[in-house]
Amino acid sequence: MASDLAAARDRARQLRDEISFHNHRYHVLDRPLISDGQFDALVDELRQIERDFPELVTPDSPTQRVGHQPAEGFRKVTHPAPILSLDKATSRDELIAWHTRISKLLPEPTSSLAYVVEPKLDGLTVVLHYDDGQFVMGATRGDGQTGEDITANLRTLRTLPLKVPVDRDGPSVPHHLVVRGEVVILLSDFDALNERLVADGQPPFANPRNAAAGSLRQLDPRISAQRPLRLFVYSIVSADGPIPATQSDTLAYLEHLGFGVPAEVAMLDDLNRVADYCDTMVQRRSTFPYEADGLVIKIDDLAVQAQLGAVGGRPRGAIAYKFPAQEAVTTLRGVEYSVGRTGIITPTALLEPVGIAGVTVSRASLHNFDAIAERDIRIGDRVVVKRAGDVIPYVSGPVLDARTGSEQPIEPPVACPSCQEPVIRDEGGIAYYCINAACPAQLVQRLTYFAALMDIEGMGERTAVQLVDRGLVHDPIDVYELTMESLLTLEGFGEKKASNLLASIAASRGQPFDRVLAALGIRGVGTTVASLLVSRFPSLDALQSASADDIATVEGLGPITARAIVDWFSRPRHHDIIAHMASAGLNLHKTKPTLLAEQPLAGLTFVITGTLSRPRSEVQAWIESLGGKVTGSVTPKTSFLVTGADPGGTKYNRAQELHTPMITEEQLTALAKAK
Ligand code: IVH
Repeated sequence: MASDLAAARDRARQLRDEISFHNHRYHVLDRPLISDGQFDALVDELRQIERDFPELVTPDSPTQRVGHQPAEGFRKVTHPAPILSLDKATSRDELIAWHTRISKLLPEPTSSLAYVVEPKLDGLTVVLHYDDGQFVMGATRGDGQTGEDITANLRTLRTLPLKVPVDRDGPSVPHHLVVRGEVVILLSDFDALNERLVADGQPPFANPRNAAAGSLRQLDPRISAQRPLRLFVYSIVSADGPIPATQSDTLAYLEHLGFGVPAEVAMLDDLNRVADYCDTMVQRRSTFPYEADGLVIKIDDLAVQAQLGAVGGRPRGAIAYKFPAQEAVTTLRGVEYSVGRTGIITPTALLEPVGIAGVTVSRASLHNFDAIAERDIRIGDRVVVKRAGDVIPYVSGPVLDARTGSEQPIEPPVACPSCQEPVIRDEGGIAYYCINAACPAQLVQRLTYFAALMDIEGMGERTAVQLVDRGLVHDPIDVYELTMESLLTLEGFGEKKASNLLASIAASRGQPFDRVLAALGIRGVGTTVASLLVSRFPSLDALQSASADDIATVEGLGPITARAIVDWFSRPRHHDIIAHMASAGLNLHKTKPTLLAEQPLAGLTFVITGTLSRPRSEVQAWIESLGGKVTGSVTPKTSFLVTGADPGGTKYNRAQELHTPMITEEQLTALAKAK
């Protein structure tokens, strides 16, 4: 028994090292060495060992990233050294003034100084403690002296190393090491997060900063675990061993330890160059992957920084260069209500057009009706509109002093703006929904969502509106029954446009199962959740027969989504849809990725009928050379019937029965090129 335990301990140690090595490759460096499946296998093996020998569970084990029970509240912690904030400059003159001030305090001429310029990340500041290389505690900045202990939440961040290498090549790690950084949500993750929240009936976040702070300060770490939080560190707060002497070396050292550090860092040796760089970056701020509200200029030599000291809690050796605010004040002319694919009704502000940082804004998000009531935003108000990165502009609040008394309150809708059916308020009370399953506005949104996920080009909102208005589509799956004839009845559709759309619809049949699953539009099941689901339930059948409890055990999935999935499958209407999906030839199970997938016709099965321009055997060889398959009779598996001159007969009739799409030889060529 003792030797079993010893062997298990060794193996667990080895697995933890391997897992954190691959985690770092994947999440920090973006250069994975093994497949997701291989990675999951390592984690599964470790979990099994820890289940068998609970005494082997360590706080830094990668299995401890999720699943902690909610904390009662956050414990207060005192920081080992004050977590200072920065003085700021907003112009070249202010930068020069800062430089003049510090020059006077230094014995050496400042012409020999070098400066590091980093983005000023706009997220939540965190202070992370490592003892002998192990992550032991993480806190918010709080008031700079004391912060809140959010260790359990921080552990869920995959970009946070639970262990830093004490003895990897290079400099060793001090026994106690405290680093400072910022937790952010990347702009590329922000919209998807809000979409997911809204789909789950929760209020969206106003901006990535609020989203990061709100997600980290959750009492239940399982919620933080589901949010796309990222950590970037930039300084060492305290250490009881040797650490680098410059800021540039500090960044390199922290990176070596396995932390993510900001990538957009400049080393400049002259203040004029620093000021020029700041000017350029004002224009380029939207190229940062995260929201940055400015730059931080730091004297590279940390001894010089120390010598300069701090005044009023702000170090003299560094300064924040703030970007101009991306906001403006304008008049709120009205509110438009739009219906989303789940029936949720969202208000959009219609504004007197106003320029914000070079872009004219005439519409902005009002978030939800609670946010409107809370901020008391009224039609006719002068309102503050903000923009952040590429995020949709939003109304942050009214200018109360500008009120004239003629402003009108904004009422939540009582009827759906599209189908006029009564609107209901959800249980949580934040969202208003149209629950009419036949609501055309919902269908248009479901259709464009489906088309986007299935990569059907040319099926934007305009086309979707036409298809729904004409009654050609009653459910997104009906797109597989569209014909040249029906498309030609739509305004603006000629043969070319119609055949391109048909080819693109046809090509979408090759989309993998996880895409198809996401395209169903089940609440909470976007592309990320769909891939998680598919790795456990490799077919629609398997998922359909799973219980909510089974589904909820998939890592990264909560009980609400699990319930939504089971509910979706329990609706008879959805059984018809599943049957249609099968007959349309969509992938309803996980297919092994093969090299063939890169070939344009991979995964597609063709049947040929009628006379073609080339001998049939030649066309067959050509299809096969592009990865397609040719069979002799039409079955539900057939992707297309290729029709030559004078089609007819059994194949043709069978294809009509099965709604197999028919394409001409020309369309087939277009399809091979389109993919
Ligand atoms: S240096 C003494 N560098 O901006 C060191 N701060 O008032 C002072 N911030 O909330 C901080 N990105 O946490 C530094 N690259 C960066 C930063 C950064 C964001 C935050 C900081 C604080 C505020 C500065």
